[in-house]
Amino acid sequence: MKILIVGAGGFIGSHLSEEILKNHRDWTITAIDICEAKILHLLNDENLRFFNIDVVKEYEAVEEYVKNCDVVLPLAAIASPAVYVTDPLRVFELDFESNLRIVKWAAQYKKRVIFPSTCEVYGMCEDEEFREEESNCVTGPINKQRWIYSCSKQMLDRVIYAYGIRDGLHYTLFRPFNWIGSRLDDITNPNNGSSRVVTQFLSNIFHGKDICLVDGGNQIRSFTDIADAIGALIKIIANENNCADQQIFNIGNPYNQMSIKELAHNIVELAKEYDKTKALAEKTKILDINSSEYYGKGYQDVSKRVPSIQKAESLLLWKPGIGVKESLRKMLDVYC
Ligand code: NAD
Ligand code: UGA
Repeated sequence: MKILIVGAGGFIGSHLSEEILKNHRDWTITAIDICEAKILHLLNDENLRFFNIDVVKEYEAVEEYVKNCDVVLPLAAIASPAVYVTDPLRVFELDFESNLRIVKWAAQYKKRVIFPSTCEVYGMCEDEEFREEESNCVTGPINKQRWIYSCSKQMLDRVIYAYGIRDGLHYTLFRPFNWIGSRLDDITNPNNGSSRVVTQFLSNIFHGKDICLVDGGNQIRSFTDIADAIGALIKIIANENNCADQQIFNIGNPYNQMSIKELAHNIVELAKEYDKTKALAEKTKILDINSSEYYGKGYQDVSKRVPSIQKAESLLLWKPGIGVKESLRKMLDVYC
């Protein structure tokens, strides 16, 4: 199978490429990104070809690669909430416009598309567990710019779904729920808002900065280890008996629900177990901060986000197994 991964140099793309090159030698990867730092160790593998292409500015170049693949994963996106608020149009141009072009080529050339939707499409839905076919997608007013990411992804979900109905587009939409692991964002950047929460907290400790809990940190996320998550993605790509065709899957770990406050305390306690971070963690304070001070007025939060994974369990025969503490330890092992 010829797999095109756009955004292969990112967190998910790098772990997915690594797994494919290790255990699926009959698959080949065409990898596109503007940065190869996280996949340097893969560039000499004959099964991966890397192209440095900016899909916003040089999008014409991408058409040929879509034409020549069997399946495309358009992973390139801005996925950091701080940027949704400070630069919403950059989010729209990459996350929506660039990926729309790829989806249209996939429909035109009859290629399979595996699209990273997001748990953010459910927004402020109040269901106990979010269900792919039933839960509402609930966003806030226009002046809360945070929702531009959710809306961009939701609109692409709807476009892909409509191509499936009208043109028989082969697609799978997967919705990651806070996947975590090494290479998630930039651990060397301690500035508030530069990374998603787990990397942000680790980076704060490494740089001797205090941890900030946005609006008290009672909001809940369901953290999913990247190794579990990649297991689901491989099953989606393999698509045995067409089990993933025309489907939407939440890929998350409902057993790993945790408040952001608990997460902060867990990270600090675990960091005390490592020589490199012990002294720093002992000095780290956990402070409260107002969301408009941290992110700006265009921010609005999701108070609880838990996936139903019944569909992934029954159709993909997939279940996550790695707990949050184990995931955090794996990250600390890599960074310390
Ligand atoms: P990431 O930021 O680590 O990776 C995105 C990659 O896209 C980066 O390597 C970046 O260099 C590349 N990129 C950015 N602009 C580009 C451009 N103009 N041209 C080419 N490449 C460009 O993000 P990720 O966590 O790996 O997420 C991958 C996808 O999954 C995204 O679509 C994201 O929205 C979605 N997603 C991720 C999560 C998660 O838990 N990590 C959750 C929900 C959805
Ligand atoms: C994330 C991002 O939108 C995407 O990466 C993605 O689509 C999705 O959710 C996901 O990862 O599955 P969110 O979980 O809100 O959204 O983003 P984080 O930056 O990881 O923040 C999680 C929570 O921690 C938020 O409530 C945030 O306010 C809080 N936080 C973040 C803090 O309390 N302190 C910080 O320093 C950073």
